[in-house]
Amino acid sequence: MMNTDHAIGTVGVLGAGRVGTAVARQAMRAGYEVKIATGKPAAEIALLAEIVTPGASAVDAIDAAAADLIIVAVPLHKYRTLRPELLKDKIAIDVMNYWAPIDGEIDDFEADPRTSSEVVQEFLGRSRLVKSLNHIGYHELEEDGRPPGTPDRRALALAGDDPAAKAAVADFIDRLGYDPIDAGPLPAGRAFQPGTPIFNGSHTADELTALLETSNATASL
Ligand SMILES: NC(=O)c1ccc[n+]([C@@H]2O[C@H](COP(=O)([O-])OP(=O)(O)OC[C@H]3O[C@@H](n4cnc5c(N)ncnc54)[C@H](OP(=O)(O)O)[C@@H]3O)[C@@H](O)[C@H]2O)c1
Repeated sequence: MMNTDHAIGTVGVLGAGRVGTAVARQAMRAGYEVKIATGKPAAEIALLAEIVTPGASAVDAIDAAAADLIIVAVPLHKYRTLRPELLKDKIAIDVMNYWAPIDGEIDDFEADPRTSSEVVQEFLGRSRLVKSLNHIGYHELEEDGRPPGTPDRRALALAGDDPAAKAAVADFIDRLGYDPIDAGPLPAGRAFQPGTPIFNGSHTADELTALLETSNATASL
């Protein structure tokens, strides 16, 4: 397990859709206290949370964003409805993907050569964004996790510019049941965006590391 100077106790999930609820349940299995929110008032999702994420507290976004670690699991076309002031200085995992065939074309991403996470990081300003959990299906997230040391344990990549935030996220990924692999700074998340071999498959730590090296070598050509 990796060391981190930031002990994560509470996890705040922004988005109670397919991915947000799967991460919430898996985080609770790993022993975290989970708060879940949407763009609506807490009372409007209380029943949904009771049924779909039993054990998690349905809260307003402001309260979810007060957790130690935030999961940003809203549809990417809604990223501008996030409130940057709530995520200032917070460690946040960007699980979102830009996938035009599914989402339709979004000008912010079509017109910008950067990765979707870099665009989101700029919008959020001072949040400590780490891209991860975007390249595993929401249903797989609860099925593929294994204890540390299990042979052929599935690995998940992470990319971000803040080393302490990455260490905290790596520890979280490990506790969810996956080998965390540091891909590098936030732009390195390009290697596991939709359409890449990493996005399209399931990989062990060795396989994922090799794919990231190949991707870095290609990017530097
Ligand atoms: N499907 C997968 O297997 C998978 C895997 C990894 C990553 N992803 C990515 O994860 C993202 C979310 O996908 P999804 O399938 O979970 O979406 P989804 O099922 O459509 O759920 C989105 C959730 O976000 C909430 N939301 C919208 N705006 C919000 C805001 N400003 N603050 C808090 N919550 C807000 C929505 O609730 P209200 O609209 O009621 O507020 C809804 O609960 C996408 O970018 C997707 O590409 C998907």
